[in-house]
Amino acid sequence: MYSCLARSLRCNVGAWPSYVPSSTLAVLRSPDRRSPDHHCPHRPLTSSLPLQEARPLRDPRLTPARSMGTGTRRKRPPSAFPVLEEKLQPIHTHVYEANLRNSTACQQRYVTFREKVRKGGGENAVARHTQRNKKLLVRDRLRLLLDDEDFLELSPFAGLGLPYGDIPSAGCLTGVGRINGLWCVFIANDATVKGGTAYPITVKKQLRAQDVAMQNRLPCVYLVDSGGAFLPLQSEIFPDKNQGGRTFYNEAIMSAMRIPQVSVVCGSCTAGGAYIPTMAEEAVMVHRIGTIFLGGPPLVKAATGEEVTPEDLGGATLHAEVSGCVDHFAWDEKEAYMYTRNIISTLNYELPEEEEEQGRRVEQPLHSPEELMGLAPLNYNHSLDVKLLLSRLTDGSKFQEFKARYGTSLVTGFAKIEGHLVGIVASNGELSCAASLKGSHFVQLCDQRDVPLLFLQNTAPRPRHTHTLSQADTNSNRLKAQGSMMSAVACATVPKITVVIGGCYGADSYAMCGRAFDPHFLFLWPNARVSLVAPGYAAALTPPEGEEGEGALRKINKRLEEESSAFFSSGRLWDDGVILPQDTRKVVGVCLTISQQQRYQLSTEKTCSPMLRV
Ligand code: COA
Repeated sequence: MYSCLARSLRCNVGAWPSYVPSSTLAVLRSPDRRSPDHHCPHRPLTSSLPLQEARPLRDPRLTPARSMGTGTRRKRPPSAFPVLEEKLQPIHTHVYEANLRNSTACQQRYVTFREKVRKGGGENAVARHTQRNKKLLVRDRLRLLLDDEDFLELSPFAGLGLPYGDIPSAGCLTGVGRINGLWCVFIANDATVKGGTAYPITVKKQLRAQDVAMQNRLPCVYLVDSGGAFLPLQSEIFPDKNQGGRTFYNEAIMSAMRIPQVSVVCGSCTAGGAYIPTMAEEAVMVHRIGTIFLGGPPLVKAATGEEVTPEDLGGATLHAEVSGCVDHFAWDEKEAYMYTRNIISTLNYELPEEEEEQGRRVEQPLHSPEELMGLAPLNYNHSLDVKLLLSRLTDGSKFQEFKARYGTSLVTGFAKIEGHLVGIVASNGELSCAASLKGSHFVQLCDQRDVPLLFLQNTAPRPRHTHTLSQADTNSNRLKAQGSMMSAVACATVPKITVVIGGCYGADSYAMCGRAFDPHFLFLWPNARVSLVAPGYAAALTPPEGEEGEGALRKINKRLEEESSAFFSSGRLWDDGVILPQDTRKVVGVCLTISQQQRYQLSTEKTCSPMLRV
């Protein structure tokens, strides 16, 4: 399945529209550097939980044994899910066209932002980085490190439009890519952005990438090239729990969780940054380019009057031969990434086995995913039946619906996406009491069966008010049912992926596995809106009184308009990135593949304390 997905993605590359970002998605273009085929047999999922979470881990004795090279292959029982016969009717045309116009404009914004962040810190900084400092650009580094040129990049627009300015890609690239066939999280500083210094958003992005590594139990590689904290904003970086120090805390916790971490020192590791390689399980350092010290040469001069070169003070020779802070000395960057790839191949993972040909065949939807552009709602009133959307997302447009006649404002059921069985929970109107009870039932069902969940979120634009006794009754029943669904979602231990396809408003969005409910991955379509209430609906929260009230209301609505866009959200890292509707199938397929890799780590049952260096 694994390589089937890889191959089908590879085959599809040429067919993709030219605006599909190469970095948004792990698509495999160059098979020559990859390790032998790796496939993903269909096995029940084991739970994937970060240590910090107080949820019970499944008893490993209940996990079926792996086939471990015995040659045994498993296959799923055949399924004959019904085909969704959802066709666009003439009555839908004007809604479809309005959605399409909006999606086209949103896509243009997406392309503009993508080009902007690709430039990193700008021409001068790039020249300083490559010519004066003789270092490779961050994307060239990733090209040498990863098997494929493309990878699942996380939150590329993080850092745009912040109160302290535009910080392209938050000054560091994060994502999930393959090294010798193993999916690994990477966290790579971009030193063309203010010397790779850490802004508050940089720290947030690094912590989120570590979270992804923990939730999915993925090895993590750090490419460190950073001047440490961005000093003017130190109060927002240093003191609090989820700030700078948390990166190091996580390194220890991840090590104890048996999540391998490797660090490559390919630039400055100053002050706090120095702890990243020091706490990693294995570290590689590049001669003349890498330095590790708590205070640099200017500080030494100020304190002692002594002139010292960065290399003598904390270069690769010193740390590989004297301090022992690093384990591998590399003469140049290319050699460093080669060492790192070799280190990854020493991790005790097995790769999924070759599967039967029929298991690899992935059916395409009967309708073009391009049509999702016209189904991505301009606003809540432009939402078409979500089954139209499902028929453009699922393999063969097939869907085994659950409770089709009950609580119809939520659609639940099973489908395959890129060959992976998944439980889908999709908004199809307001999350009523019946819809929430159904959602709660279905989420628990998937959890019981270890089937990953995909939430397609498009929630109602405003809260429900209580003006009459009958409304009070309806609303309190809805409240109880939504509480039940929230509990089911929060406690489900299967991988959860959320895609906001329209509105992400108010409490309904929690039950639909919003950010606070810890989905393994959360993406937004560019048309998505994220706010407490939708723009234009502020009166639902603060009914205006008099002219002054009307004025205040206009201001709030204007603010909601500005602050609810998908790009505003992504700039602040409330999600893992904006994806185009037509890429959704492939992104979700890759996420499902990634979340299954933990099955192939050997000896996870052994308890372990963090690795302590010399
Ligand atoms: N805080 C704020 N700005 C910083 C910074 C920091 N810690 N470190 C570097 N910068 C800024 C520089 O002022 C410069 O800004 P400019 O482009 O507006 O002129 C930019 O980052 C790049 O720095 P520069 O020294 O020109 O680039 P470089 O690639 O040759 O060197 C460093 C990068 C990080 C090695 C070097 O700047 C350095 O040693 N910085 C100090 C590191 C430090 O002491 N950190 C302690 C923080 S706790």
